[in-house]
Amino acid sequence: SPEKLPPQVGDLLVYATGHQEGAPITPAQLPLGGPFVLAYPMDPKTKVVRSGDPKNTLLVIRLDPAGLAPEVAKYAVGGVLVYSAVCTHLGCIVSLWHPAQGVAQCPCHGGEYNLAQDKVVSGPPPRPLPLLPVRAGQGGLEVAGPFNGPVGVQAG
Ligand code: FES
Repeated sequence: SPEKLPPQVGDLLVYATGHQEGAPITPAQLPLGGPFVLAYPMDPKTKVVRSGDPKNTLLVIRLDPAGLAPEVAKYAVGGVLVYSAVCTHLGCIVSLWHPAQGVAQCPCHGGEYNLAQDKVVSGPPPRPLPLLPVRAGQGGLEVAGPFNGPVGVQAG
């Protein structure tokens, strides 16, 4: 079903929670340097939000482009990065932000991710969060391609 499909190229990114839930995210709405917002992909034609699979939960943040590692910057537009929000340890949603350290943290076992460098900096996650390439479209931020790695928990 369309609400369970993984992010498709051209999907709009919409707020997953809060008073703007379901509204498209534009880069200017995102505070520079965080915090991040949680998002889902939405089919721009049918307006179906792909919230039917928790693996479609995304984390969107705007960081200083000058501070991004080169291998991260190629997935960004204007410093905006889109990651899978599914922790690679046991699949909780990474929902906490620590501005002083500039890291996103998983509430389940404390795994910490540096989002400017796409690295695990603390805790049990075995892999960094996969990045989803993003572009600026007329209606807001759009998915520009597939994740650069597997989402969530992987066997082995
Ligand atoms: Fe995220 Fe364990 S599920 S640290």
